[in-house]
Amino acid sequence: MNIIVTGGAGFIGANFVFHMLDKHPNDRIICVDKLTYAGNLSTLKDVLDKPNFRFVKLDICDREGVYKLFEEEHPDVVVNFAAESHVDRSIENPQIFLETNIIGTAVLMDACRKYGIERFHQVSTDEVYGDLPLDRPDLFFTETTPIHTSSPYSSSKASADLLVLAYHRTYGLPVTISRCSNNYGPYQFPEKLIPLMIANALDDKALPVYGEGLNVRDWLYVEDHCKAIDLILMNGKVGEVYNIGGHNEMKNIDIVKIICKALDKPESLITYVTDRKGHDLRYAIDPEKIHSELGWLPETMFEEGIQKTIAWYLDHKEWWEEIISGEYKNYYKAMYEDR
Ligand code: NAD
Ligand code: DAU
Repeated sequence: MNIIVTGGAGFIGANFVFHMLDKHPNDRIICVDKLTYAGNLSTLKDVLDKPNFRFVKLDICDREGVYKLFEEEHPDVVVNFAAESHVDRSIENPQIFLETNIIGTAVLMDACRKYGIERFHQVSTDEVYGDLPLDRPDLFFTETTPIHTSSPYSSSKASADLLVLAYHRTYGLPVTISRCSNNYGPYQFPEKLIPLMIANALDDKALPVYGEGLNVRDWLYVEDHCKAIDLILMNGKVGEVYNIGGHNEMKNIDIVKIICKALDKPESLITYVTDRKGHDLRYAIDPEKIHSELGWLPETMFEEGIQKTIAWYLDHKEWWEEIISGEYKNYYKAMYEDR
């Protein structure tokens, strides 16, 4: 099969590329990425020369470019990871989120309609369901939970989901959607909670916890997310949405304390800063559908996954030090100075 993976130079997309090349060596992977601030070609350096891998620098909003690529490659499957993915950036500047996350998804699906496709898979997020209260641990997001978004980011992802389902109903496009909880693991861009705290702690810098640090996220090791998408591509039902999550809810402050302990850094580095606007309180996925229909279960438990992740960041300092020494400095200053 010829599989287009968009956003494959980013965190989850790259991990998915590695997973697919390893598990399906007879498939050809065409990685499409615009290489925004979050995309990094060096992440893909070990696979760039593989005969069944091609990297194409392309914006998914570039209709002409996308159609040309479909004419060249005749993809059987498209997996769309490409997105602006950081909530804080969406609060500062929503426009690019609407362009990439909504228009870009529509352009890809138009190409799928025009040239024919076996499957279009949209990588979505649990954030489309909004949040759950902190005092109702009995509540979880299921696939039928109403869409109820909080941030420009989650609203753009929800808009894309609605379009994907509309293309299925109106044009019969063979689509699937997955909505996953917070991922962590190798190659996550250091603007996100876990790598940011690891990088800052190693530098003995303040660890900026939003609000009181009591917000809850449901963490999943990235490889488990990749395996779930692979299963959906193979056995998922067209037109369906699958939630992905491993019942691993943690308060932000507890994650930061785990990182301090693992790196032997003092908790006095923790600094409580002004909360994120519209900050979602709690995410919690009910993964029963993907478990019962497709047999998926997470394999890496958090205790193991967080230690593996910290070890990876210690072993790959050159990867993230290059990022945080560049344009990221301006982002960090604007986002955190005087916060
Ligand atoms: P990321 O920000 O690390 O990577 C995004 C990638 O998309 C980058 O390589 C970037 O260059 C590329 N990209 C951005 N705009 C593009 C465009 N217009 N055309 C082509 N490429 C473009 O993101 P991530 O954390 O790897 O997330 C990947 C996907 O998974 C996103 O769709 C996100 O919404 C979803 N998701 C993320 C999480 C998470 O915890 N990180 C959880 C659930 C779902
Ligand atoms: O739930 C899935 C989503 O998870 C994905 O759709 C998003 O693409 C991904 O970025 C992630 O969103 P979050 O907003 O949950 O992730 P982030 O790492 O930005 O923040 C996690 C929590 O930590 C959140 O409650 C905010 C808090 N936080 C974050 C940062 C960066 C802090 O307290 N301090 C920080 O410096």
